[in-house]
Amino acid sequence: MNVELDRYAVFGNPIKHSKSPQIHKLFAQQTNQSLTYTAELAELGQFNKAVNDFIQNNGKGLNITVPFKEDAWACATQRSDRAQRAGAVNTLMIQRDGTLYGDTTDGVGLVRDLMQNHHIELSDKDILIIGAGGAVRGVLEAILEKKPTSLLIANRTKQKAVQLAEDFTDLGNIDGCGLDEINDRDFDIIINGTSASLQGDLPPLPKTIFRKNSNSYDMMYAAQATPFMLWSTKSNASHVFDGLGMLVEQAAESFFIWRNVRPETSAVIKQLRLLLSS
Ligand code: ATR
Repeated sequence: MNVELDRYAVFGNPIKHSKSPQIHKLFAQQTNQSLTYTAELAELGQFNKAVNDFIQNNGKGLNITVPFKEDAWACATQRSDRAQRAGAVNTLMIQRDGTLYGDTTDGVGLVRDLMQNHHIELSDKDILIIGAGGAVRGVLEAILEKKPTSLLIANRTKQKAVQLAEDFTDLGNIDGCGLDEINDRDFDIIINGTSASLQGDLPPLPKTIFRKNSNSYDMMYAAQATPFMLWSTKSNASHVFDGLGMLVEQAAESFFIWRNVRPETSAVIKQLRLLLSS
């Protein structure tokens, strides 16, 4: 008998460098789940059609990446509270009646990587997050849930940081400012949530943001250290991390939403690191 496997995929544009198929294949092997997971290029302006075709073809769940996270939010008929507030969805689950449930797992992914993999406490800490785009919006609620002393968003375009902070002000002590306004402040944790590393760029920041034991984290990852990571090391950050663990942790949370099974992530992070450097 030819049993059709449950289908999962990541939709994005571009998509060919996505690591999600490798990650979910490792999760499926580890948890003995029978499924397929592929990376699919969705045409710009054709997102809803691509989702509908996927549902018609035994699709059970989707990850959504750039530039479709807002489209995914719009096409979900039900959303988690955290997705509702983030205004973006990176995980869609096709429910039994064919309707779409949307969630966002990036914030959980970041916080788990920081706290469980790198043993960094967030409560009672001063945190700086650089950038005010969708990537940062998606992680603010999860960070604020851990009750930091303060969370400052600094962005090249100041107004976007100020607006974003306003949107989350009911959840904790959060502020927004321009990159040129952080001169006299220092932090326990500094997170780069800009897309600058993608272009090999470094947001202009003063070295004085680091304290004696500051941790520095780039939400991007690459085979080599990003410009932000290199700069953090030179500026005497105590520990410097990239976002590979966040990628795996957000994937694990999506897998849990779809399959109700939680994969163990540390071995997968190690395997992915090896793949990245080979
Ligand atoms: P994403 O969905 O990845 O967050 P985005 O919404 O386009 O993408 O946001 C990109 C973020 O990176 C923005 O905060 C952007 O700053 P602006 O709001 O001023 O555009 C920031 N960014 C991108 N390149 C940058 C650079 N070279 N230096 C500083 N900030 C940069």
